[in-house]
Amino acid sequence: MKAPSRLQHCLGRAIALWGVLGALALRAMASSPEPVKAPPPQPEPLPYEKLVAPFQPPPAVSSAPAPEDTEARIALGRLLFFDARLSKNHDVSCNTCHDLATNGADHQPLSQGHQKRKGRRNSPTVYNVGGYIAQFWDGRAPTLEVQAEGPLFDEDEMAMPDDRRVLATLTSMPEYVKRFQAAFPGEKKPVTLSNLTRSLAAFQRQLTTRSRFDRFLAGQREALTEQERRGLELFVTAGCVTCHNGPAVGGTSLQKLGLVEAFPKIADLGRYEVTREEEDRMKFRVPTLRNVEKTAPYLHDGSVAQLDEMVRVMARYQLGKTLSPEQVESLVAFLRSLTGELPARYAAPPELPKSTRKTPKPDPT
Ligand code: HEC
Ligand code: HEC
Repeated sequence: MKAPSRLQHCLGRAIALWGVLGALALRAMASSPEPVKAPPPQPEPLPYEKLVAPFQPPPAVSSAPAPEDTEARIALGRLLFFDARLSKNHDVSCNTCHDLATNGADHQPLSQGHQKRKGRRNSPTVYNVGGYIAQFWDGRAPTLEVQAEGPLFDEDEMAMPDDRRVLATLTSMPEYVKRFQAAFPGEKKPVTLSNLTRSLAAFQRQLTTRSRFDRFLAGQREALTEQERRGLELFVTAGCVTCHNGPAVGGTSLQKLGLVEAFPKIADLGRYEVTREEEDRMKFRVPTLRNVEKTAPYLHDGSVAQLDEMVRVMARYQLGKTLSPEQVESLVAFLRSLTGELPARYAAPPELPKSTRKTPKPDPT
């Protein structure tokens, strides 16, 4: 018999070794109390297309600036937005309650206007309002143009007594008259209330913010972190997107607060107060979630102070779900990815036209 070659020798040793290892493994399996189970199947992550689809503009709502929003109107609207002389006592401007330097809101539960009087609702951000289905928490103004008349004459806001006083204020300053002429060329008397609200609307349609989420929507899949992407996936699969959708992640519908579980507070009946239709009880225009991290406190009455608490409240009352702490964290992480850059050229206060002898005086009454 030939002596085993070196190769055969090595093979033999290897087989012996495998045998020992195999026996050990078998012993280990036999002595473990539970048979080794395959891990539960992980749900497939949602494909990218499903994550971005809910945020495309719906056909009926476009946030594109209207073609009549000329540079002259936008610039005029900006002056008007910051001008406290459009209030009775010259101390409240649109910017007082929608501070453009701090995300377009005032960060108080309820806003304060003329004589520090409080209204009954929280001031929503004016960033990204251009494409909403309707304005105000109860959707009572169909457009930004109609909306802008509200605060000028609201006793708790700018408290102007009537149109005449507003127009007298503007016509008292030659620079405003020139600016209205430039913004509405060919009109004989361009200083009108409707041109004022058109200019304010044109300006506000410019107030858009872009964030990392927009880069994700545009195809840069690595623009969101792993945790943010998980949060977005939950936002879609748990059903937040049935209400918070479209380019502003909100603003596309009116929905009932307390859809699944009755909401404990019923002081404000929302849309019902406008229509008196039973089905509109507690319906509110769904707010945008862009920059939501920076626009606390939340809800129409400013009653929720923290974002994580807000997420839990929504899951419970709108969806009937209790979220785990990790789920809340990833949803909040996703919401933070909606925080955008504020457009610096609009956020800083402009230099306003100078008052003249003819400008009506402040009236503290
Ligand atoms: C005293 C504070 C205050 C002032 C001043 C004020 N607002 Fe508001 N604004 C609010 C509050 C509060 C609401 C919500 C009211 C409601 O929904 O019933 C609101 C709502 C809005 C909305 C609707 C946003 C949405 O999400 O529906 C827009 C747009 C807006 N204001 C623009 C303006 C403009 C333009 C001016 C100046 C002409 C102005 N505001 C002056 C407090 C104020
Ligand atoms: C059935 C519709 C609906 C669903 C589902 C829904 N929301 Fe809301 N959400 C609303 C409405 C309506 C409001 C405003 C209610 C109010 O002000 O009284 C709101 C308000 C919010 C706010 C406060 C925004 C602000 O500026 O005040 C946040 C944050 C929010 N939702 C996040 C979520 C998250 C996260 C989910 C999923 C867990 C979710 N929502 C599910 C309708 C919905």
